[in-house]
Amino acid sequence: MSLEQERAKERIAAELDRSRRRSNGLTLDTLDEGDLLAQHSPLMSPLVWDLAHIGNYEEQWLLRAAGGREALRPDIDGLYDAFENPRADRVALPLLRPEEARDYNDRVRREVLDTLDTVDLGPVPRPREAAGKRSLLEAGFVFHMVIQHEHMHDETMLATHQLRRGAPVLLEEGGPPAAPSPPAAGEVLVPAGPFTMGTDDDPWSYDNERSAHTVDLDAYWIDTDPVTNAAYTEFVADGGYRDPRWWTDRGWEWRRQRDAVAPAFWAREGGGWTRRRFGRQEDVPPEQPVQHVSFHEAQAYARWAGKRLPTEAEWEKAARFDPATGRSRRFPWGDEEPTARHANLGQRALGPHPVGSHPDGASPLGVRQLIGDVWEWTSTTFHGYPGFASFPYREYSEVFFDDGYKVLRGGSWATHPTAVRSTFRNWDHPVRRQIFSGFRCARDAGRD
Ligand code: AVJ
Ligand code: FE
Repeated sequence: MSLEQERAKERIAAELDRSRRRSNGLTLDTLDEGDLLAQHSPLMSPLVWDLAHIGNYEEQWLLRAAGGREALRPDIDGLYDAFENPRADRVALPLLRPEEARDYNDRVRREVLDTLDTVDLGPVPRPREAAGKRSLLEAGFVFHMVIQHEHMHDETMLATHQLRRGAPVLLEEGGPPAAPSPPAAGEVLVPAGPFTMGTDDDPWSYDNERSAHTVDLDAYWIDTDPVTNAAYTEFVADGGYRDPRWWTDRGWEWRRQRDAVAPAFWAREGGGWTRRRFGRQEDVPPEQPVQHVSFHEAQAYARWAGKRLPTEAEWEKAARFDPATGRSRRFPWGDEEPTARHANLGQRALGPHPVGSHPDGASPLGVRQLIGDVWEWTSTTFHGYPGFASFPYREYSEVFFDDGYKVLRGGSWATHPTAVRSTFRNWDHPVRRQIFSGFRCARDAGRD
């Protein structure tokens, strides 16, 4: 085995272990059986479903598809199929009990580590070949897919924790960074011209991030930082939730039906606002990016502010385009993997950091906190890029295209560094706000 492959396998084994310790930390290590089996919200699965679904997905892709092995538990595949069972129905299924889920997951993982030892990961294809067909093992893709899948469910489980009532169980690992630079409350001018959107060769990239293609944009302004709680509170105080002028018809309809008056988890107390965060009540921190807003709320705020949401392409150009070289970067700060200095990722904190906290994570154009903190709503409906080819299965992305889902970008504080990059695309219904969602605004700059 080449040294390169040995290194790649060590990294994969370490990331598999990291994701499992995180999943167990959100379930078996912190909650009792009742809490794991309970339905904390009809929007979410019981946590024990996510747990065994993670193991079942790993079994299907690493042991069966890549390893050519027989199913360990063919009887449970149906239970953990996300399409067969809507989230609200999962609590009524004959799910594995927490201890059974642990044993099943452990057994799958032991066999996966055996498979990893003997498998040939295959080289990273050169860009010209990359446009062709992909294979499961190419550059370790299927392992990366499984690692990212587990971390995505960990983020989903955090959303379940946020909805859960009862005594807090999650601990904050680190405080906010020492010295945030002052909020700029500014905007950055992105010059007109083409840039490369998407990727052909990122070994962690999903089908929906491919292929790399040129997009030519007019000049636009984009906010330097995500919209803060302080700024959002002004919209609320100005009667933003009572004025249909700021909302689309569908947005207003959503607002009326829910009688929404503020972001999810906010409550009026005295003259100000508090929020519930993982079972604790606290003042809404003015300098943090606003979180738990729906697409409709983001859109209404932007219109109230005389702006609009960025398109997905505008978000990506602001995050990746380097005007000095004309190249698109993997991350705003360059091609290196994220560190704690660059971005608030990986559940180190249990919420966003104040704006201005990560000057080292700024993009070449000076746009900040694009990666981490909060997922950012864009105005774009989720669709496939030109020449889209589904890989390795249609149900990851393709079945969601052009069905009213809005694209979110950049990851949140709950997103693991392996599960986000400047090309990564997330999507959700425009009414959803139990996710860790915020936004920034943009506006036209006019042609020169
Ligand atoms: C990409 C986050 C929208 O959670 O529905 C999990 C990820 N796909 N299992 C989701 C996913 C299969 C997906 N999102
Ligand atoms: Fe899944």
